[in-house]
Amino acid sequence: MAAPEQIIQMDESVIETRGQKSVKFRGGLRFISSLLLPLTLGIFTIVITFQQQSAAKQQRIDDREASQQQRDQASDLDSKRYQNGRFDAYIKEMGKLLKENHGEIISNKVAITLARVQTLNIFRQLDAQRNVHIIRFLYEAKQLTDTPENRSLDLSTAELSDIDFRESSINKKLLNNLSLTDVFLSNATFIGITMTHVNFALTQFNTANFSLAEINDANFSSAGFNNTSFASTSFSNTIFANATFKDVNFSLTKFNYAVLSDCNFWHSNLKDAVFQAATLNQVNFSRANLHKTNFIGANMTKSELDNTLSIQDTVLPNGTHVHDENLINNGQADCNIFHISGWTVSNGNITSAISNSSNSNCQFILQSLSTGATMYQHVRLSDKWNSNLWTFSEAVLSAKMSVGVSMELKGIKNDHSVSSKETLSKLQYATNEFHIS
Ligand SMILES: *[C@@H]1O[C@H](CO)[C@@H](O)[C@H](O)[C@H]1NC(C)=O
Ligand SMILES: *[C@@H]1O[C@H](CO)[C@@H](O)[C@H](O)[C@H]1NC(C)=O
Ligand SMILES: *[C@@H]1O[C@H](CO)[C@@H](O)[C@H](O)[C@H]1NC(C)=O
Ligand SMILES: *[C@@H]1O[C@H](CO)[C@@H](O)[C@H](O)[C@H]1NC(C)=O
Ligand SMILES: *[C@@H]1O[C@H](CO)[C@@H](O)[C@H](O)[C@H]1NC(C)=O
Ligand SMILES: *[C@@H]1O[C@H](CO)[C@@H](O)[C@H](O)[C@H]1NC(C)=O
Ligand SMILES: *[C@@H]1O[C@H](CO)[C@@H](O)[C@H](O)[C@H]1NC(C)=O
Ligand SMILES: *[C@@H]1O[C@H](CO)[C@@H](O)[C@H](O)[C@H]1NC(C)=O
Ligand SMILES: *[C@@H]1O[C@H](CO)[C@@H](O)[C@H](O)[C@H]1NC(C)=O
Ligand SMILES: *[C@@H]1O[C@H](CO)[C@@H](O)[C@H](O)[C@H]1NC(C)=O
Ligand SMILES: *[C@@H]1O[C@H](CO)[C@@H](O)[C@H](O)[C@H]1NC(C)=O
Ligand SMILES: *[C@@H]1O[C@H](CO)[C@@H](O)[C@H](O)[C@H]1NC(C)=O
Repeated sequence: MAAPEQIIQMDESVIETRGQKSVKFRGGLRFISSLLLPLTLGIFTIVITFQQQSAAKQQRIDDREASQQQRDQASDLDSKRYQNGRFDAYIKEMGKLLKENHGEIISNKVAITLARVQTLNIFRQLDAQRNVHIIRFLYEAKQLTDTPENRSLDLSTAELSDIDFRESSINKKLLNNLSLTDVFLSNATFIGITMTHVNFALTQFNTANFSLAEINDANFSSAGFNNTSFASTSFSNTIFANATFKDVNFSLTKFNYAVLSDCNFWHSNLKDAVFQAATLNQVNFSRANLHKTNFIGANMTKSELDNTLSIQDTVLPNGTHVHDENLINNGQADCNIFHISGWTVSNGNITSAISNSSNSNCQFILQSLSTGATMYQHVRLSDKWNSNLWTFSEAVLSAKMSVGVSMELKGIKNDHSVSSKETLSKLQYATNEFHIS
């Protein structure tokens, strides 16, 4: 496209040989040539534009995507830069605090507060990967190790998501003497880690995987486990007192079994927990709620289930379903003994005898219809059920009674006042089942 320039030069050389007269011409030509230049350029651009039009559409789309990507990369870079900056600043600040206090932040009240506030703050600002490094830093600086002399840094109420504790451990394997109490952990990974002397008391686990981990001398008192897998985890000497379990699985995997020895589940809520094929050795379930807990195939002794709060619908190792003992003493009439034990007959005469209608059933029999009779017994619930620990409990009363019989249930408090009263009576059917909550 050198053509326009060549034309102009040619014209000028012609004009110069024509002397004065040519001045007008020259001016005129200049005018034309100056018109010509943008005009040809205009054509040029139009032609180019025209030729590029179809390509441009695609290019515009590509450009838009590229610039979006660039913006994303830039904001990603900004976020990374920001997080790295915050991370470095935190390490610097904490390093200073540690230095000033000779590694014992705990000896200085102001330093404790500063360390706690800054750490909770940094957890909120950083992503999971950097938070893992914060935990590792604090752990290696001995700030997350609890000893009677040096208490660990109080991180209670901290909320940590997606933490893979393998990244905080030594060689992705060992995590000893870690204390992380009263925090919220969601989607936490402890797969295959060996943990000794760890303290997670009061900590809430929402979705956690302890699969193949080895846990010794740990304290999980009052911890909450929700959607947690303990598949093939081995535990020894571990305390789960007052702990709550929801959707928890202590089962086997293909190769290994969960092993629990000397563990204490005192007062814990293991409703619906699965201990399928687990090995339980000296495990204490006293006062624990084992409602619908599954022990199928587990290696355990029956005595380990003594003193539980409830074994209603619990599945024993041999697959048998069990239920709680009747709270009412001699609630089912016993025809092998002559007198009615467990009950106080306050008026009239009641005996027990095999029923006329079905001779396998032993029943309480009223001797005189005209005088009638009353019998009663007290059931002590206070040593069974603690309303502070178990705010919702249910007692189920099933009874078969004939027409004319009625039953009165009274809730009596420690101070002898009556808290509730309900009268149940047979109306139409031979069998009545009452549910009292
Ligand atoms: C407490 O921490 C300090 C500083 O890390 C250390 O020198 C001291 O030995 C610790 N005390 C105990 C009993 O661990
Ligand atoms: C759980 O955390 C891991 C990192 O430990 C992460 O890779 C994974 O995406 C997280 N899962 C969910 C559902 O967020
Ligand atoms: C871990 O804690 C136990 C019991 O408190 C103690 O005997 C052991 O020395 C501690 N280990 C380390 C590395 O602090
Ligand atoms: C259990 O975890 C799920 C999510 O993992 C959550 O929605 C639910 O509120 C948790 N329940 C309790 C009792 O914390
Ligand atoms: C827990 O981790 C183990 C080992 O990586 C894996 O096989 C298992 O599927 C995980 N369990 C859950 C419930 O995510
Ligand atoms: C376990 O933690 C609970 C709650 O912090 C505490 O009361 C208890 O003394 C601890 N048990 C042991 C053996 O350290
Ligand atoms: C329970 O955990 C599994 C993986 O372990 C996860 O896929 C699932 O989303 C979790 N359920 C809830 C309700 O969080
Ligand atoms: C269990 O809970 C009861 C009642 O809240 C409390 O008195 C007891 O100290 C707790 N035990 C542990 C080991 O946390
Ligand atoms: C418990 O975990 C085992 C092994 O991961 C699995 O086979 C089983 O179905 C799980 N049981 C329940 C009730 O989640
Ligand atoms: C049950 O566990 C004990 C050790 O606690 C072991 O000696 C025994 O062989 C186990 N039984 C079965 C059937 O696995
Ligand atoms: C199952 O085990 C329980 C307790 O050991 C025992 O009382 C019961 O008879 C067993 N049931 C069967 C069908 O073997
Ligand atoms: C109640 O009736 C039975 C059978 O008639 C009788 O043997 C028994 O002596 C009576 N008991 C009382 C306390 O009256």
